[in-house]
Amino acid sequence: MVYKARDKRPHENRDGRNDRNDGIVALKTIELDADEGIPSTAVREIALLKYLRHPNVVTLYDVIHMADKLTMVFEYLELDLKKYLDACGTTGLELITVKSLLFQLLQGIAYCHKQRVLHRDLKPANLLLNRSGVLKLADFGLARTFAMEVSSLKSEVITLWYRGPELLLGSTKYCTEVDIWSIGCIFAEMVNGSPLFPGASDAKQLETIYNRLGTPDPSIWPGMTQLPLYSEQPISTFVAPQQLDSLVPRLKNDPDGLDLLGRMLQYDPAKRISAEEALHHPFFNELKRRPRRSSTGPHPSAYPAPPAQQQQQVQQQQQLMQQQQQRDRQEPEDQQQRQ
Ligand SMILES: Nc1ncnc2c1ncn2[C@@H]1O[C@H](COP(=O)(O)OP(=O)(O)OP(=O)(O)O)[C@@H](O)[C@H]1O
Ligand SMILES: [Mg+2]
Repeated sequence: MVYKARDKRPHENRDGRNDRNDGIVALKTIELDADEGIPSTAVREIALLKYLRHPNVVTLYDVIHMADKLTMVFEYLELDLKKYLDACGTTGLELITVKSLLFQLLQGIAYCHKQRVLHRDLKPANLLLNRSGVLKLADFGLARTFAMEVSSLKSEVITLWYRGPELLLGSTKYCTEVDIWSIGCIFAEMVNGSPLFPGASDAKQLETIYNRLGTPDPSIWPGMTQLPLYSEQPISTFVAPQQLDSLVPRLKNDPDGLDLLGRMLQYDPAKRISAEEALHHPFFNELKRRPRRSSTGPHPSAYPAPPAQQQQQVQQQQQLMQQQQQRDRQEPEDQQQRQ
């Protein structure tokens, strides 16, 4: 449960806090079970958010540990993308707003991937927005670090509608590409005003994707034959590959938008665009040319690179992240439980 609260302490005692919000914070509380201790989702969220610092990642200020509950104190943002999309109805967002939000989402996730963190639950409800249109990634309860060497990961991650085909076919050796698939789904949802692949159940999710994108085969995705659930996939009805513009009609006259979406929704994870590459896609050229407008949020160039004096702090954070990676490597994921 997340509550809005006001920190009543004098300004000078709210160390390092952004007081433009007048002491308003968001409190995420977790009831603790005396037998089970702190849930692994909370441990992960705290461990990772403590060291992730980026304008497009929500800031965790404090953690208050009491006998029966754990409270995480976050910077407060007015709404999340799900609520915003719901409020905008089914027509979708203005395309310049889609561009601005998608760019910020990619900046946040490119940073996480660079820090070797997978989010693993990207969806509109986990993306926070403030009044000036700034977007921040939140809910790192399913996130984890990844190492260069491929380790075995859980395939039951990411909320169903945003879960990539490799996960739905049982892959346990996935990487950053799972977050990019989710971002492709969110991109289309912002344009259409409705979810792209709203599968009715776990069993129906692959079918929903195949019906809309076409049934994949090993000629476009060679690795699929090695996935654990390959032989169980819904291939009773073959659907020919579909034109993407039929899925996002508002992008019909926007070849750059269609190209970027197509690169995010590649069946083969190896062919999916990375977040860093996507940031340089021509779809975003308009943002770089356009003067700053309040309805689309701050111009992306408003986020400066870390100044030189922060280098030491960045190095310390990297060391701590490496320690977390070390722990992740030693702890097989099937022994970790979701709440
Ligand atoms: N920092 C914040 N400022 C304002 N609202 C927030 C903040 N963090 C979270 N929320 C709101 O609370 C909701 C739930 O937060 P979060 O996703 O972190 O928790 P959760 O325990 O994973 O919940 P759920 O199971 O619903 O995903 C978000 O969708 C958002 O609407
Ligand atoms: Mg959530």
